[in-house]
Amino acid sequence: MSLYDKILILTGAGMSAESGLGTFRDENGIWSQYNFEEVATPEGYSADPQRCLDFYNYRRDIHKNAEANAAHKALARLEAEYPGEVVVVTQNIDNLHELAGSHRVIHMHGQINKAKCNDCGHVYALSHGNIELTTMCPSCKVVGSQRPDVVWFGEMPYHLEEIQREIDSCFLFISIGTSGSVYPAAGFVNMARKAGAHTVELNLEPSDGAVQFHEAHQGKATEIVPRYVEKLMHEAAIAQKKVVR
Ligand code: APR
Repeated sequence: MSLYDKILILTGAGMSAESGLGTFRDENGIWSQYNFEEVATPEGYSADPQRCLDFYNYRRDIHKNAEANAAHKALARLEAEYPGEVVVVTQNIDNLHELAGSHRVIHMHGQINKAKCNDCGHVYALSHGNIELTTMCPSCKVVGSQRPDVVWFGEMPYHLEEIQREIDSCFLFISIGTSGSVYPAAGFVNMARKAGAHTVELNLEPSDGAVQFHEAHQGKATEIVPRYVEKLMHEAAIAQKKVVR
């Protein structure tokens, strides 16, 4: 029975799908309805900032009503109760891990509830309202240069050095609800394997990189994540009893 000193969990859009937030590449996914080059690249923003802001303002409205689901709650419980460290790296720009109660969450693709000034780089919380062309940067006071603090295609994801350290020091790597089609996140499983971690995929269907995992389980996140967390807790309890004896 295994007791892992550190568990690193990578989450993607499938984690929040049952909270009503769409995925990107499934049938009827967000990228089948919108051209990502127009709304999720620096070039798309430069060409038509209003179109880009409209897209994120619309998505922010959907996010406002979203609630953490059973999968988010299971990971929060794991962090609170597991005898080892539990760290979540998410590609998601929602705050559902935090709403569920997780504290150690690394947002590698930014957060939709934050804005960034394209002029001075200041990042700030959007406590209410949306980003408009008339929004003023609270730091440098420039108007017309505000954008969502999300990482677009062609931009460098956040916290990569910290994530590398977490991968190098994890003993179990779990990937949940991601198609494994966007790098660098898609390469984390390989890095974790090289670091000696056991690797597990929990996804609705086998992802593009499913064969790279030691174990893969298919199903809805709200079903397979709580089940897997239960198994980890059970194994940890048995391992701890063995140590005590
Ligand atoms: N439970 C578990 N997995 C699910 C569920 C569900 N209820 N619904 C869908 N999935 C799976 C899909 O089968 C798919 O493999 O989640 C995955 C979602 O994949 P994508 O839509 O590609 O989302 P993601 O991997 O998070 O995308 C990565 O791409 O567009 C960028 O920046 C964006 O962060 C995003 C990145």
